[in-house]
Amino acid sequence: MKVLIADQFSPKAIEELKAAGLEVIYDANLNGDTLTACLAEKKPAVLVVRSTKVQPPQIDAGIPELKMVVRAGSGYDTIDTAYAKEKGVAVCNTPGINATAVAELVFAHILNADRRISENVTLFRQGKWNKAAYASCPGLKGRTLGLVGFGNIGLLVANRAHAFEMEVMAYDPVVKAEVIEKTGTKYVTDLMDIAKNCDFVSIHVPGGNATKGLISKEFIAAMKDGATLINTARATVVDEEAMIEKCKAGKLFACLDVMSNEPAVKKGDFTHPLSAVENIYCTHHIGASTLQAESAIGDEAARVVMTFSKSGEILHQ
Ligand code: MLT
Repeated sequence: MKVLIADQFSPKAIEELKAAGLEVIYDANLNGDTLTACLAEKKPAVLVVRSTKVQPPQIDAGIPELKMVVRAGSGYDTIDTAYAKEKGVAVCNTPGINATAVAELVFAHILNADRRISENVTLFRQGKWNKAAYASCPGLKGRTLGLVGFGNIGLLVANRAHAFEMEVMAYDPVVKAEVIEKTGTKYVTDLMDIAKNCDFVSIHVPGGNATKGLISKEFIAAMKDGATLINTARATVVDEEAMIEKCKAGKLFACLDVMSNEPAVKKGDFTHPLSAVENIYCTHHIGASTLQAESAIGDEAARVVMTFSKSGEILHQ
């Protein structure tokens, strides 16, 4: 069976697939038209991707040989699942495995926003010393973190926040109050309570229609002056325009690992409107990109592919 891997992927998992007798084609730089061309030429039975988009042109290029798309990550928002289904291509993912890596990145962003480490480093590199400018960072102890979503990642972020002696409150209409409160986290039923009361707000809900614009213009307007919004989930959850306006006005910090119109290049130069906005700190969609997470996600994706090749069973569908 032929497997095409079109994103950064664990070398160990590639070896596992090869050892199981599968033919592996690995090109982490494929995207858009180059992915379409590769699918048309190589005709794999399985395509493995992370956040590379799989849309009708790619699915059309792969069928009829393409039988399964494995998203080595959480959610399916980069894949046209309805079209895949219509064309008889199964889609599955590797849920929950990136949680620790994402929670760690959230804290990297929180600490960076509070202590302005990236600005410190940039100034130092420019040969500019300004200790006084960074003397009035508030610190984390006793400050309030609001979690929008309390699934696998939200829980791990809460645990880390408690270790920093922060107050934590969470909004999640699906998770029971007692599950949230058991962790020492305050449970709120009104999302606006998070906006009004928190110094930091971190988003941990999936993308898609159900959460589109959940962090609305009204939510952003209600956030405390000087608060920080952290989004390592999906860009669609936030009203980006309202967020940009408040950041430009110097009343909000936004730490983003996801953004609309994420640069299409996998590596190289890009232009993006957010790169010019002060008070917005973007990382390169690296939430799941620790060696530990990559290895665990790779193992699970390899298990999914090998199960399919042996028995036709589709896991995590
Ligand atoms: C995920 O959905 O788990 C990640 O965003 C995938 C990625 O690293 O591209």
